[in-house]
Amino acid sequence: MIRFSDRANAISPFFAMAFSEKASALEAQGHHVIRLNIGEPDFGAPPPVVSAMQEVMEAAELPYTSALGLPALREGIARFYKHMHNLDVSADNVVVTAGASAALLLVSAALVNEGDTVMLADPAYPCNRQFIKSFGGKLQSIPCSADDRFQLTPELVRTNWNSRTRGIMLATPSNPTGTSVSPEHMQSILEFVKQQGGWRVVDEIYLNLSHDGNAQTVLAYDDEAIVINSFSKYFGMTGWRLGWCVVPDVMVPVMEKLAQNLYICPSTPAQHAAVACFTPESLTVCERRRDILVHRKNLVLQGLQDIGLSIDVTPDGAFYVYFKIAQFGLSSMEFCDRLLAEYHLALTPGNDFSESSGSDFVRLSFAASEHALEIGLHRLGQFVASLRCRD
Ligand SMILES: Cc1ncc(COP(=O)(O)O)c(C=O)c1O
Repeated sequence: MIRFSDRANAISPFFAMAFSEKASALEAQGHHVIRLNIGEPDFGAPPPVVSAMQEVMEAAELPYTSALGLPALREGIARFYKHMHNLDVSADNVVVTAGASAALLLVSAALVNEGDTVMLADPAYPCNRQFIKSFGGKLQSIPCSADDRFQLTPELVRTNWNSRTRGIMLATPSNPTGTSVSPEHMQSILEFVKQQGGWRVVDEIYLNLSHDGNAQTVLAYDDEAIVINSFSKYFGMTGWRLGWCVVPDVMVPVMEKLAQNLYICPSTPAQHAAVACFTPESLTVCERRRDILVHRKNLVLQGLQDIGLSIDVTPDGAFYVYFKIAQFGLSSMEFCDRLLAEYHLALTPGNDFSESSGSDFVRLSFAASEHALEIGLHRLGQFVASLRCRD
């Protein structure tokens, strides 16, 4: 029998993905399943990127690129910061990765030593906990309440920081709540952590979908922060597996040798085609899509209100709504299992994101089509009505 590592045995499933598998099994039996469990925009890549990919595929050879990424793509990403945030970022500090996931993997490998403590918000993106633990780190997950829009505050960071805390990982806007840390709070948190000699990893994968008018990359005020981003969300390219991070000068060679060894380089054809993300035409398409997402958000918030589900916080960036279901006397896992099995609607249980209160919440992704959202809300309404009838 194969004996697996303690690391592999300790890892929890990513429930959002696990619910996709369950949804596929139901579809294979002929059921029509509405999938609002995954943060995956239904738009696909912008048309110029699709055309560029078709041309790339005509090329005879697609060799490995540099482990840090295709120079033209690193340049394009650097220009994107100028275009979106009026910020000068050098292409030399941009590392292209196989999705934000690989950026988080490399960064965790670069920063976390055995026994190091890393501060995170609870709720937060679940894989971060696994990355930290995989490199021997210890989690310092700080429960964040709806009063703080489920995000860390300067006070929470200050009061919980201790001599063993080595760094902090934040996401703004966040998954699963869709909420952002205000620039003032973020600045104060980063300044404090810097004073303590701690490293700062800020995941900005949803930043360019922000719609509260406040969106600003933290690179504007912390040039030693390590910033994560991706082509998955704003550019709608989840399956292309491309992301990036911006790292300080001293970290570039470290990231390079880690990427060389861990996966050599991100996909060559995807990188060539992604250069077309930064054309005016692609950016116009992506900006329009953000407006569509705002419309979908409003539709979902109204739908949830009509069903009588209360939402403690409304999202301002990422395409998720995180809402309470504790009043029905079911855990979020039971709620999601029954909703999928009986009404063929896939949501994600809050246990993915929060060890402290996840059983009380579920996450709905509104990155799906308006039609799917309408059917999904209808099914959710029927399920909730059936639970109320039982009382
Ligand atoms: C906050 C956050 N970070 C990282 C990722 C991973 O994204 P990618 O597809 O770029 O690997 C996700 C995916 O949902 C996410 O929500």
